[in-house]
Amino acid sequence: MKNIDKPLLHVLKGYRLKNPPIWLMRQAGRYLPEYKKTRALAGSFLDLCYNPKLAAEVTLQPLKRFNLDGAILFADILLIPNSMGLKVNFQEGVGPSLETVDNFNDVERLIATDQIHKVLNPIYDTVNLVKSKLDKEITFIGFAGAPWTVATYMIEGKGSKDHQKTKVFMASKPDSFDLLISKIVDATVEYLMKQVEAGVEVIKIFDSWAGSLPGTLVNKYSLGPMKKIAKRIKEKHPQIPVIVFPRGVGPHYECFSVIDEFDCIALDSNLPIKWAREKVQKNTTIQGNLDPSYLISGGSSLVEQVVEIKKEFEKGGHIFNLGHGITPNAEIKNVELLINTLKG
Ligand code: CP3
Repeated sequence: MKNIDKPLLHVLKGYRLKNPPIWLMRQAGRYLPEYKKTRALAGSFLDLCYNPKLAAEVTLQPLKRFNLDGAILFADILLIPNSMGLKVNFQEGVGPSLETVDNFNDVERLIATDQIHKVLNPIYDTVNLVKSKLDKEITFIGFAGAPWTVATYMIEGKGSKDHQKTKVFMASKPDSFDLLISKIVDATVEYLMKQVEAGVEVIKIFDSWAGSLPGTLVNKYSLGPMKKIAKRIKEKHPQIPVIVFPRGVGPHYECFSVIDEFDCIALDSNLPIKWAREKVQKNTTIQGNLDPSYLISGGSSLVEQVVEIKKEFEKGGHIFNLGHGITPNAEIKNVELLINTLKG
């Protein structure tokens, strides 16, 4: 398979391969001892993101260990709020916390889009560095958070299970909310455009909390803003494939699969596999969707899941991945077992 130049990019362009290419969400992270070492060297998580040399090293770590087809830029979706002027902090064992926007004035005061690169410049340096060191068969993926998911963090100030504060903001201050979404769209387009210009070959947009939206608003606040971003990137860079991940939207997944600007739809683990094949993969390339907990349990149940997912999706475009990010307690030997099972 590796004799094809960039198998992952090949499948994203709509071609088929006998064996699906594979990469893993959060493939660089705390389940790798070498990551923990570099992370300690950097200081904080944000210091690591803003240190091109160390961030490039961490991006490449999983590729040194595993037979993966993609590298994903090491960064975080919360760098955008940070670049717009909201201080972000990652506390060990607690997760992210950040300054919030609470009203129209706060949204208006966010740093203008043309100024965000002051904070984000090191990320483009990381892209350059990775690009210069990456094997030629590996596809390089850049990313950003989707406006809805990023807005939830900017309004809640931290992770949330129900996003109630965000939804109350959205319903009671619609003008402020729409301005916020449009500012995030603009900043994200700028950010991704620079990633492309520095060398990434694919863009992924993470709408990790799309499943929190009321069904009536999935189009308006998840699909719509992601489509705008993809369209604007493709106006300048039509060759760049865009993967979207509207996690948790259930039957709405079908609507995402017919959007021309989206080249690949990343599936969460929860979708019925036959439904996903018939309603989503029928229209486009899909990515997914092993439940990350199998990388903790391993063994024959992992093998069975991998074989089943590969078989169910073998007739269409498929990139193997997880349905969500690897967890810190995943085992390295299980990642190896997954890849060996897939690639035979
Ligand atoms: O996939 C990769 O290997 C690339 C890097 C990447 C990270 N975050 C590194 C990271 C990517 C693509 C992300 C995306 C991201 N970040 C998302 C969307 C995907 C998803 O998981 O739903 C979200 C919601 C975030 C926000 C975020 N960053 C949270 C909620 C947390 C804390 C949770 C945790 O696992 O601790 C982070 C921190 C984070 N981002 C870590 C890593 C490796 C762990 C931080 C550490 O090293 O201490």
